Amino acid sequence: MYEQVSHSLLNEIMTELKPDIKSENIRHFYTRLGANFYSIYTLFHYLYGDRDDFRQQAQRLVETMARQYILRSDELKQLDIERERDHNWFLNQQWVGMALYSDGFAGDLTTLITKVPYFQDLGINMVHVMPIMACPSGHSDGGYAVSNYREIDRRVGTKEQLDILAQELRKRDILLTLDVVLNHTSDEHEWALRAKQGEEKYQDYYYVFPHREIPDMFEQTMPEIFPETAPGNFTWVEGIDKWVMTVFKNYQWDLNYNNPAVFIEMMDIILFWANHGADIVRLDAVAFLWKKIGSTCQNEREAHLILQLMKDCCQVTAPGVLFIAEAIVAPVEVAKYFGEDAIHAKECEIAYNATFMALLWDAVATKCARLLDQGIKSLPDKLERATWLNYIRCHDDIGLGFDDADIRLAGYDPIPHRRFLIDYFTGDYKNSFARGKPFGHNAKTGDARISGSLASLVGLEVALERRDPKEIDDAIDTIILLHGMIMSFGGIPLLYYGDEIGTTNDYRYVEDERKSGDTRWMHRPTFDWDKAELRNKHNTIENRIFEALKKMIAVRKETPAFADFNNRELRDSGNPHLFSFCRINPYHASDRVLVVGNFDARPQHMEIDDIIPTGVVQQAQLHDLYSGEKPAMFKNALVIPPYRFYWLQAR
Ligand code: GLC
Repeated sequence: MYEQVSHSLLNEIMTELKPDIKSENIRHFYTRLGANFYSIYTLFHYLYGDRDDFRQQAQRLVETMARQYILRSDELKQLDIERERDHNWFLNQQWVGMALYSDGFAGDLTTLITKVPYFQDLGINMVHVMPIMACPSGHSDGGYAVSNYREIDRRVGTKEQLDILAQELRKRDILLTLDVVLNHTSDEHEWALRAKQGEEKYQDYYYVFPHREIPDMFEQTMPEIFPETAPGNFTWVEGIDKWVMTVFKNYQWDLNYNNPAVFIEMMDIILFWANHGADIVRLDAVAFLWKKIGSTCQNEREAHLILQLMKDCCQVTAPGVLFIAEAIVAPVEVAKYFGEDAIHAKECEIAYNATFMALLWDAVATKCARLLDQGIKSLPDKLERATWLNYIRCHDDIGLGFDDADIRLAGYDPIPHRRFLIDYFTGDYKNSFARGKPFGHNAKTGDARISGSLASLVGLEVALERRDPKEIDDAIDTIILLHGMIMSFGGIPLLYYGDEIGTTNDYRYVEDERKSGDTRWMHRPTFDWDKAELRNKHNTIENRIFEALKKMIAVRKETPAFADFNNRELRDSGNPHLFSFCRINPYHASDRVLVVGNFDARPQHMEIDDIIPTGVVQQAQLHDLYSGEKPAMFKNALVIPPYRFYWLQAR
């Protein structure tokens, strides 16, 4: 391919490169820049081509990428080359992640380094350390309101400590994931402070309006993200007497990607953390990156183009680094964040599977897998070279983000069904043992999401209070069942810190005025290391959950059918309480694992002919990879105990 316009621009940029860059021997950088430049140019031109200073902005972008490349350590450059050679490395079944707050989990980064053996004990080899960049002590949104993108919050540690952590993890083949909050800054970020002082250059970094006219137009179609605590999408800023777009909290100012300076700054920041050892960068709230009057300002085409451009630029400087898309949006929209194609127009290699997460919770509440099955059937096919992040809980609320059409196909009425789910998880429904709280209740639409820890949502907290051994068993089994699903579905399972030892809700957040308005804090625990010690004591709750997950992780890592190469077939089990799918070894199609989970409180059966074509294998040959046992059979049916799962293979 030879494209004259972009090549002549690249030539001009090369001629005018600053001497500090020219003097460096950066052969690999130039090779990759040449390979990606047509695409970078096309996207950058689409977004910013109508500006008089387009040429200079393109120059700045290339110089930013080059400078970060020069700063990248030899060790990381070598890793880039290895990962380029083995570009499917992250689709392998060996990866298992855990997300945690470094302060909640360990106190600070230095202590976190001493906890690495805990990850190894469990089998975790990807650690998502949630936002650690500087943020105000009050208005922080759990670290998602950044006041300085290049400093680590002093409550958590220093860059030197992070570098040591990254080294220690790398030595043990554990991946490090860090957040970059792309969509907004804190109102205490230097750019915002300077905007407040009237500097136009920085007002242009945000969406700032002198009158209500434009904000009102936006409001007509923009939903509210935090309706209780931050209604509306604009905040009046005294002093400059202007309205600033604040989609999330009123102290989170939305960045204006119409301005190429913003794009270049954020690109530089992504590469900065890549150079501090992030193997994976979690890009926060990516659906919101582009705002357009008359739209919901989510999932706009330009948001995708920005991500494509970021990916292209990252591939030039730090090609070994992966992106996670945090896009908690409708099922059909989520898959678009992988990009249009695995090579051209690629975006993020990994995306949160919020659909699967929400559907699993539906199955827990209804004890029925009908909607789960239907929702997964409707999940669009994923690109090659892309993978899901499968999770049960994270630091955020649970949004019931499945499709109304799927709810109907599963035989429910959407409005009452969603109402039921909220009532169920907030404990308002009879026979519900869940101890969640509503989050983001919207009085205008009646919508709400759910907060609460995994253990409390599946009834462990209530069962412990009642000292009911049967209920305790059920809750533990449900925790294990849900993990059995995310470990085998296809993608990277992401555990949430504390779930592996059955951590229940932490209600102390109500005493802290910085947290009390946000129920998500009830499932952002201060990790209890004494409780964690109990994992080593036979038959404690901690021991039962921890050992189960540890075993599951070990088995997953040895099961090639669990690698993610679009090798999953949904199975119709003929029994609405069961969720079942088949995983196929991408290298040996005859090597299959049949996954089945029973969400009901009673044993359920599945006809054996549905499992294996008659004559191919004898039922006696079936065994469960996880427990190592032969599953129980009655007549010609497999019997799945309550809240249990099987990973069945024919020997
Ligand atoms: C993401 C984060 C969430 C935060 C929001 C705004 O969704 O996961 O915790 O509140 O972005 O930054």
